[in-house]
Amino acid sequence: MTPNQKVAALSVRKGPGSIAALTCYDFPMARLLDQAGTDILLVGDSLGMVVLGFPDTTHVTLAHMLHHIEAVARAKPAALIIGDLPIHTYDTPEQALETAKALVAAGADAVKLEGGVRQAEKVRAITQAGIPVCGHLGMLPQRVLEEGGYHKKGKTPEQTQAILDGAHALIDAGVFAIILESVTPAAAKSITQSISVPTIGIGCGESTCDGEIAVITDLLGSFPWFVPPFAKPEAKLSNSILDAAAKYIARVRSQS
Ligand code: KIV
Repeated sequence: MTPNQKVAALSVRKGPGSIAALTCYDFPMARLLDQAGTDILLVGDSLGMVVLGFPDTTHVTLAHMLHHIEAVARAKPAALIIGDLPIHTYDTPEQALETAKALVAAGADAVKLEGGVRQAEKVRAITQAGIPVCGHLGMLPQRVLEEGGYHKKGKTPEQTQAILDGAHALIDAGVFAIILESVTPAAAKSITQSISVPTIGIGCGESTCDGEIAVITDLLGSFPWFVPPFAKPEAKLSNSILDAAAKYIARVRSQS
């Protein structure tokens, strides 16, 4: 399938459980997750925290994103590759389009950026150039410093309405899907039911969105220093790594 065919197929998947998405930052993981059948490989700017060791995503640069998108794209996955526009690379519609083109040249099939009404013109500039865009609403990690932490969204009718207004502005600008992050289950469900494009939830509860996305290190248990409360690890790779490394070190030292 071409990237546009993949986007078209995903954009009509509504209903809980319709899309399974994972973040991915390198070549071997892209091969494995693609073989497992994920619909989307998101090269998210979460890589700043779980791969590069920064305290939050505000340290991620375009150069970081290009390096990791190129690695994922080398796997030539069947899954749709979405690349994140890092902070301050989409401050104007012109800059947003230039950044989106760079991500696509690195191998992304589609791009994602954070925010609603205030980003609509930037999204429009990108979609009008033929590049598919995924929206991202609710808790926006790139705003962690302004907001003084990671706060749940959709707790009041006003907050829920603001997210819905953002969703409508993004849909009007041409997004094919919207990630909802850390939105209360009730708000996520009502937003999902009132918009035409699929929502992909993280930290929004079960069966509230049309799909789900997980940060791969949360799923694999390979970043034990911070595990979000909503994460549901299916493995404990950090223990396996410690065990294998300790066995190797003991084997080498036993030769002395
Ligand atoms: O950067 C990222 O990994 C994301 C997901 C948390 C949705 O945006």
